[in-house]
Amino acid sequence: MRYRWEKIAFLAGAVLMIVVLAVSCTSAFQNEESKDSESKEWNQKWCPLCGMDLDVYRSTCHRLHYTDGRVIGYCSIHCAAKDYRKGKGEIAKIDVADFASGEFFSVEQARYLVGSDLPGVMTVVSKKAFSSLEEAKKFQAEHGGEILSFEKTLSMVYAGMDRDNRMLTEKMGKMQLMGRKVAEEYRCFACHGIDGKGFGKATAFTSPRFAQRMSSKPVLKDAIMDKKHAKNSFQGRITPPELQALMIYVWGLREPVAQ
Ligand code: HEC
Repeated sequence: MRYRWEKIAFLAGAVLMIVVLAVSCTSAFQNEESKDSESKEWNQKWCPLCGMDLDVYRSTCHRLHYTDGRVIGYCSIHCAAKDYRKGKGEIAKIDVADFASGEFFSVEQARYLVGSDLPGVMTVVSKKAFSSLEEAKKFQAEHGGEILSFEKTLSMVYAGMDRDNRMLTEKMGKMQLMGRKVAEEYRCFACHGIDGKGFGKATAFTSPRFAQRMSSKPVLKDAIMDKKHAKNSFQGRITPPELQALMIYVWGLREPVAQ
């Protein structure tokens, strides 16, 4: 009799242990899986339109979620609005980083502080998104501006697009001058030729082959920072603003690819 009870207790203990192990294993597995799908979903360094660093511009980052599963991040509502207009039917949702915390949430919930004295990103009139009205009001008290919905803010972006583009063209001119200095400092011309025009040991920045391969601003930035490029001499040295200016300068030298 005693033996039977001991056997039952032992079996019950074993079953309990198996259950505990199974539960902890599946939850560990689920954790791994959810981390994995999050990183697969969005792991992007540069804005596809202007090439700006999405870590640096995280506080104004907007993401378009396409119906085919692609998630594309932009530095600002300005760049996101340009692609949103092109892909309207294929965009399932848009989310935005909270200006204060950097956490993403749906634009439908967003309160935009528009026209405050906080510096604008790609735009003359500053536009910052907040996930709560209270937070938006806090910043409004200190920086001014008015609080608007996403729809209202987006229509202001489209209405101000020409003015913003003119401001950006002017800024690009200054960036190119700065970028040329950066290129001199990092000795790009020693290998890519004077002013990147060739006759060095590496491809000219002005050659058609270069333009064809460097098909977008993100591709160009990745190529400059590639670990295999120039014995990895730029990793950890070129700062994000230097890299942006350098990219804009080199991008401006490329010959347009013949269509
Ligand atoms: C030590 C020599 C050297 C220096 C310095 C150097 N590069 Fe390069 N670069 C190369 C070589 C070699 C290649 C690969 C072969 C090629 O494209 O000619 C290359 C490739 C590239 C590419 C990719 C081109 C392609 O078609 O794939 C870019 C963009 C580039 N360099 C930009 C720069 C910039 C900007 C600088 C300065 C910050 C720089 N390089 C400095 C040697 C150099």
